[in-house]
Formats: sequence, C-alpha cells, structure tokens
Amino acid sequence: MSNKLNILFTASEVVPFEKTGGLADVAGALPKALERLGHNIIVVMPRYYNIDRSQLEQLPTPLGVPMGSLGEFWAGVYRRQLPKSKVTIYFIDYEAYFGRSGLYGDKEGGYHDNDKRFIFFSKAALQLCKMLPFTPDIIHANDWHTAVLPLLAQTRFVHDFAHAATVLTIHNLQHQGYCDKSIIDVMEVGWEHFNHHELESFDSINLLKGGIAVADAITTVSKKYAQEIQTPDFGFGLDGHLRAHNYKLFGILNGVDYAEWNPSQDKFIAMKYDRDDIDKKALCKRDLQKHFGLVLREDIPLIGFVGRFVEQKGIALIASVVYKLLDYELQIVMLGTGEVWAESFFAKVAHGRENFALHIGYSNVLAHKIEAGSDMFLMPSIFEPCGLNQIYSLRYGTLPIVRATGGLDDTIINFDDDHNIGNGFKFYDATNEALYHTVLWAVDVYKNSKEAFQKMQQFAMQEHFSWEDSAKEYEKVYLFALKSKRGN
Ligand code: ADP
Ligand code: GLC
Repeated sequence: MSNKLNILFTASEVVPFEKTGGLADVAGALPKALERLGHNIIVVMPRYYNIDRSQLEQLPTPLGVPMGSLGEFWAGVYRRQLPKSKVTIYFIDYEAYFGRSGLYGDKEGGYHDNDKRFIFFSKAALQLCKMLPFTPDIIHANDWHTAVLPLLAQTRFVHDFAHAATVLTIHNLQHQGYCDKSIIDVMEVGWEHFNHHELESFDSINLLKGGIAVADAITTVSKKYAQEIQTPDFGFGLDGHLRAHNYKLFGILNGVDYAEWNPSQDKFIAMKYDRDDIDKKALCKRDLQKHFGLVLREDIPLIGFVGRFVEQKGIALIASVVYKLLDYELQIVMLGTGEVWAESFFAKVAHGRENFALHIGYSNVLAHKIEAGSDMFLMPSIFEPCGLNQIYSLRYGTLPIVRATGGLDDTIINFDDDHNIGNGFKFYDATNEALYHTVLWAVDVYKNSKEAFQKMQQFAMQEHFSWEDSAKEYEKVYLFALKSKRGN
C-alpha cells in the first residue's frame, strides 16, 4: 500500500510500561509493525504511578482537557520512543486519576471513577493531537476504555476530527464500560446519543456499545471470536448489536513479538535453545523444577499455566480436576493472580501436594521460565478472544492443551494420532471430564509416543505468527474505515 496514514493508537496499557494482560502486548507491538509498513503512528497511554517520570521527556505545555460539567482539567504530557522503534508514545499524567497502585482497581474491586478516568484519558488523547499538532487519518481505540473515541470524534471534537476514520478493537467483550447516564454531561456527546442503538443499555451507558455503533470499523482478535461474539453464548448481551453491525466487523489474529518470546534469545531462561538443539530445553525444565522445589526428573511430564485466575481462563475447571490429576505421575506449575477463592484454593493444593507448585503474583521472568521449562501448557479457557500464551508456547516447543474456543481454536491444531500431526491437544466441551481426559491424553502421548510428541514440537516451533501479517490486515481495515467514512 502506498498511502501513508497518520494513526492515533490509544490503549490503557502498553508493554513494557504497564501490563495486566494481552492488550499491553498488542499495544506494544502492533504500532511498531504498522510503523515498519510505513505509517506514521503515535501511541497514547496513561502515566500510571509505576511509570517512572525520570525516564521520560516532559512536554513544556500542560494539556487542558474539557470535562464538561466537571470543568477543565490540566494534565502533564510525557513522551519517549517505544523500545527498538521510531514510534513515539505519549503518557497522559494526571495524578488524581492515574497516580494509584492499580490500573483499573484494587483488591476491593474496580475503581468507582473508572468511567471518568478513561473518558478523561480519551479526551486527552484528542486534545494532545490538537496540541502537537498531529492530524490523524485513523483513530484506533482499544476496548471499553477508549471506546468513547469514535463518538467524541463525531460530536464534541468534530471540528478537528471530522475527517478521521475510527476503528475500535475488542480484545475482550466481557468488559463493556457500564456507567451512570449522568456521565453524558462529562462526555459532552449530546443526549441524543443516549438511545438504544448507541449508548443506552438498561437506562445506563455502555461505552463499548456506543463505540461499536459509531466506529467506522470494528475488529476483534481472532476470526473465531468474531463469529462467537455474534452468538448469545459469547455476546455478553451485545450479540444482537454486533450482528447488526457485522458488515464492519473483522477478525484479525494477534501476532507475537518474537524479539521478546523466543527461546533462542530469551534472557530469562536457564539455557537458550531452538529447534535444532531442543534437547537443551531439558535444562530449562530442570531450572523450573528447581525454582519451584519440585522433584528434579526429566521424565515426569510438567504442565505449566500462566494467566489471570478468573472464570474466563477456565480456572474453575482446573480447580475441579487438579487433585485427580495430581494422583498421576506428573507435575503442575501455576503462575497467576486473580479471584480470591482461586488464589486460596490453589495455595491449599500447593501446601498439600508435592507435585504442584504455585506462584501467586505477576512475574514476567517466571512467565518466560514456565514457557521454556514446561512440556505442556494448560489453557482451558471458557472463552478466549485470541490468547497469547498458547502462541508463545508453540515457539518454545511447549505443547498447548486448550479448549477449542476463540483464538485457541484458530491457532491450535489438534493432535491426530492416525497421521501424527498437530501442534497441541484440544477439547470442546467446557466440562471437568473433557479437561481431565485431554490432560491425561497429552500426558500419555508425552510418555508413550515420544516420537509423535517430538514431531509436534518441531512443527510448533517453526510456526510463525507475525505481527507484519496482522498489521497488513489492519491496513486493509483502515482503508475500509476511511472508505466508509468518506461514503464511497
Ligand atoms: P489475557 O489478556 O486475557 O490475560 P493473553 O493470553 O492474551 O490473556 O495475555 C496474557 C499475557 O499476560 C501474556 O503475555 C502472559 O504471559 C501475561 N501474564 C498473565 N498473567 C501473568 C502473571 N501472573 N505473570 C506474568 N505474566 C502474566
Ligand atoms: C484480551 C483477551 C485475550 C487476548 C488479549 C489481546 O485480554 O482476553 O484473549 O489475547 O486481549 O488481544
């Protein structure tokens, strides 16, 4: 494509600055891939408490952000380059909203003013464009946090952004940004948009719903999830709304930042390895076993899990079968944080069983060690828009055990023992039995069909989920959005 586009990319978390999940991985990688394709892209995120200002350059002028009935707020703006790129990332600094330990909440739950925080952030991103100045052809919003952008660009900010096309990417439909309708006066989008086709839902505001209605294009992070969210089982109440807008809905699979997730150059693992010296993976396994105080035996299958301890990730399914599984000769390592019941349940398991190890918390280093040191990676999600860990696992020759949903279904090819092909193990029903039998099946292949297992590892490790390919798909969506914006 020859058209060089100006793109404003907004996200509530971006690697390597702040991360709670895959959105941050995407926001840290996709803009770089778009820039490599020749586009002019800026990224904007909040300056959270943990992001050290001394590593950033401060812009000389503060940014005035109109907050309707609340008045005008003044924010600081910082910037730097995204690592290993020419992409500039801007940080919106507003202590009262973002100077907190959590991104979205704390142990008590979500922050009560999340609606205002992210409406403020969205408006600040547009004000920043005016100040720089930067005239976006594309405004790219991600998830509910910035889903108000398409509507803002058409209403309160129409004077400056009338020509910009808007794209909204849904990384997770479960979180929609529900707020009290009085927030309209802070948004300043006009009460006429408080209707059932746009913002209104059960007499409240649903920011994601409004974004879906108004954006020129909607994307989500796998083809399968793009279909699933149009059904009642996966639609979280918005399936009808999405069906009504599916003419502008596209599924684009996430890529992998192979500079970060690659066993041949991973600085966090005990021994680097690749396809041609995969035997060295055993040293990573030993290191992992050692770290967690597990029995140091290469022949015992080791199953890893990294992820949020929430319903979505199938954590209750794991809880229901874990004791039964641990009766077999296998080891399980889990890393994660999340719901209180799950953290205490698995802490109890770890206490009682010597072949189970747990780290509650967030640790990027351990996530890498688990990817490299495990034989199999467990991801029995109830729903999974894309899922990144199973794709990272493939690169590490760590075969995923997954439920066939969303991006898991799109990326994992079930082991076919007639033809000895596949890159993982899949089950379909979200039941304890299905999970239990699939884990035992994988363990059996590991123990008794070594050749088949190794062949799958070799196949998995040469697969490539490139951000370049995904970025090219986003380019097409941007053009689609521009076309429909201009009405031709
Ligand atoms: P989601 O965004 O739904 O949480 P993804 O699979 O897309 O799921 O991405 C999760 C990302 O967050 C991965 O990069 C994974 O390694 C990382 N991650 C999740 N939990 C932890 C944790 N406790 N410690 C370190 N990394 C984690
Ligand atoms: C969400 C989804 C996950 C996806 C990630 C990045 O957090 O839960 O499946 O991989 O976003 O798009």
